[in-house]
Amino acid sequence: MSNRHYLHVDGVGMVFDTGKSKFTALVDVNLKVGRGEVISIIGHSGCGKSTLLNIVAGLTPQTSGVLLLENKEVAGPGPDRAVVFQNHSLLPWLSVYDNVRLAVDKVHSRRMDRKQRHDWVLHNLDLVGMSHAIDKRPHEISGGMKQRVGIARGLAMEPKILLMDEPFGALDALTKANLQDTLMDIQQKLGNTVMIITHDVDEAVLLSDKIVMMTNGPSATIGEICEVKLPRPRKRLELASNPEYIRARTAVLSFLYERQRHPKTAA
Ligand SMILES: Nc1ncnc2c1ncn2[C@@H]1O[C@H](COP(=O)(O)OP(=O)(O)O)[C@@H](O)[C@H]1O
Ligand SMILES: [Mg+2]
Repeated sequence: MSNRHYLHVDGVGMVFDTGKSKFTALVDVNLKVGRGEVISIIGHSGCGKSTLLNIVAGLTPQTSGVLLLENKEVAGPGPDRAVVFQNHSLLPWLSVYDNVRLAVDKVHSRRMDRKQRHDWVLHNLDLVGMSHAIDKRPHEISGGMKQRVGIARGLAMEPKILLMDEPFGALDALTKANLQDTLMDIQQKLGNTVMIITHDVDEAVLLSDKIVMMTNGPSATIGEICEVKLPRPRKRLELASNPEYIRARTAVLSFLYERQRHPKTAA
C-alpha cells in the first residue's frame, strides 16, 4: 500500500436535507493523507471544516463519495478514528483517570488484561503531563488540562488517525502554545497521523506537513494545499524568521484574505 493512500477522501460531497430545503455544504472533496502525516484544514467559519471532519469520523454520513482508510472503505464511527473536540467532551461525573479508562476498556478489553489497561491509562495521561491529576473531576481542572485529557483519551485508543476539531480554539495564547508543543512532541515520538481543524494560520504552519485550504461555502471544496517543508522538531521562536515558515504563512494568509475573503467582509 502506498503511504500516500493511508487515508483517501475520494469525491466526497455533503448535502444537508433540512426538510424544507437542501443545503450543499461540500462538493467533490479529494484528499490523500499519508501515514504519520499531520495535516490541517483551514478555512473561514462555516465553510464546512467540521462537516468534513465529522464525515471522516463517521459521525455524519456523506451524501456522495467514498472514504478509504488503509484501502478499506469506512462508514460509521470506529475506534480507528478518535476525535478530540474543542469543548472537551469529558464525562463530568468521572475522574480524569476514568474518562480515559472508559475508552481504553471499550477499545482494548480483548487485547489487554485489567492490569495492562490500568498501566496504559496511566501511560497516556503521563504522555500529556496529567499524571498529577488523575483523581480530579473535569470541573476541578483548567480548560487546557481538559484538552490534555481529551488528547490522552484519543491517543489511548491507538487510532489510525487522530481527528481534532479546533482543539485549542478556546484556550488562552500561552496554554495554547504549551498544548501545541505537547502535541508536536508526542506526534514526533509516536508518529501519529493527525488531521486538525484550525482557523489559526500560525498554528496550521507550526503543526502541519500539509495545510488544506478550503473555499467558502456553500458548495465548499479544497481550494489549495500548501506543503510545509520545515524539519522537526520545530521550535516556534526559531521559526519566526525562517523563510519557509514565512512563505507558507504568506501563502495561507493570501488564500484566506485575498482569494477567499469571508462572505461577510467581502466588498
Ligand atoms: N446538520 C446540519 N444541517 C444543515 N446544515 C448544516 C448542518 N451542519 C452544518 N451545516 C451547515 O454546513 C456549513 C458548514 O458547517 P461547518 O462544517 O460547521 O463549518 P465550519 O466548521 O467550517 O465552521 C454551514 O453553512 C452550516 O450551517
Ligand atoms: Mg467547525
